Amino acid sequence: MRTIVITGGTSGIGQALAHHYLERGEEVVVLSSDPVKGEAFLDRARRTGAADRAHYLEADLSLVSENQRVLKEIAARFPVVHALVLCARYFRSHRTVTPEGFEHNFALYYLSRYLLGYGLVEQMDKAEQPVIMNIAGPGAGAAGIQWHDFGLEHGYDGWSAMFQGGRLNDLLGVSFADPARGHRARYVLLFPGGTRTGFAGDFDPVTAFQVEQMKLAAQPVEHAVPPIVHIIDSPPREPLSAFVEGMPLSLHRPAFDRGAAARLDAVTRKLLSDRLGV
Ligand SMILES: NC(=O)c1ccc[n+]([C@@H]2O[C@H](COP(=O)([O-])OP(=O)(O)OC[C@H]3O[C@@H](n4cnc5c(N)ncnc54)[C@H](OP(=O)(O)O)[C@@H]3O)[C@@H](O)[C@H]2O)c1
Repeated sequence: MRTIVITGGTSGIGQALAHHYLERGEEVVVLSSDPVKGEAFLDRARRTGAADRAHYLEADLSLVSENQRVLKEIAARFPVVHALVLCARYFRSHRTVTPEGFEHNFALYYLSRYLLGYGLVEQMDKAEQPVIMNIAGPGAGAAGIQWHDFGLEHGYDGWSAMFQGGRLNDLLGVSFADPARGHRARYVLLFPGGTRTGFAGDFDPVTAFQVEQMKLAAQPVEHAVPPIVHIIDSPPREPLSAFVEGMPLSLHRPAFDRGAAARLDAVTRKLLSDRLGV
């Protein structure tokens, strides 16, 4: 039996993956911020006879302290983690800053993925074929990164914040998968294609309309899941890979620049240590 940890496993793609792996007899650990949705996940698991393998950890992953707390809890309860699936995200039309002082997209969409990936290395190193599945939007180029204003204090808009998060995750994958680090987990960056999900967010009227239009044209969640499952079940041999709608993406693009990845890694460590002493 494998242990699969899924952030944002209470809605959309993460939820579908959580139930898929429960049905397959695996141990599933879902992380999200809304305990009502968490209870719905556990309730469905009880009804399908999988209660003993379904676990819900409530955490506001936009907070570094909450990521650290759940990492300790996972370490205490699950000595081996086979897959980490990163699906938590929340769109914000208006700029919001977390109580720890980070812009919300940066905190949830990037920093949390950084902390959880590195934080679970020990448990993943013990697994057979461990994999980190970072579901975002790989490959669109590094141009959108505001190196001196990650929090987009100047000129914020929700889409820019979301796209910048995607770029940061590309570079996170490059750093994590650097062979010099010696991690066993394969790092996979994946764009599932437009998918009709909860698309969680706080939208202004124009964006709410755009999102509803996107949902009309999007694929159902059931179509997004099989290619993701295929990769989690048979991780690529390469330390890092990227997929866009099922097709492998060349890593020879600016989005995966090693220099930019090393720069981001250094800046992230400094940010965490300067602001929070992490
Ligand atoms: N849907 C698409 O068209 C599409 C396209 C490209 C990429 N993606 C990527 O695919 C992944 C899944 O997207 P989706 O559309 O399936 O998601 P979704 O339906 O919008 O669900 C988002 C999940 O994130 C969780 N979440 C939100 N804020 C959180 C917080 N502060 N702390 C912890 N969890 C939080 C939510 O749970 P709670 O409410 O319980 O906290 C929910 O389970 C995302 O990474 C997204 O970027 C999706």
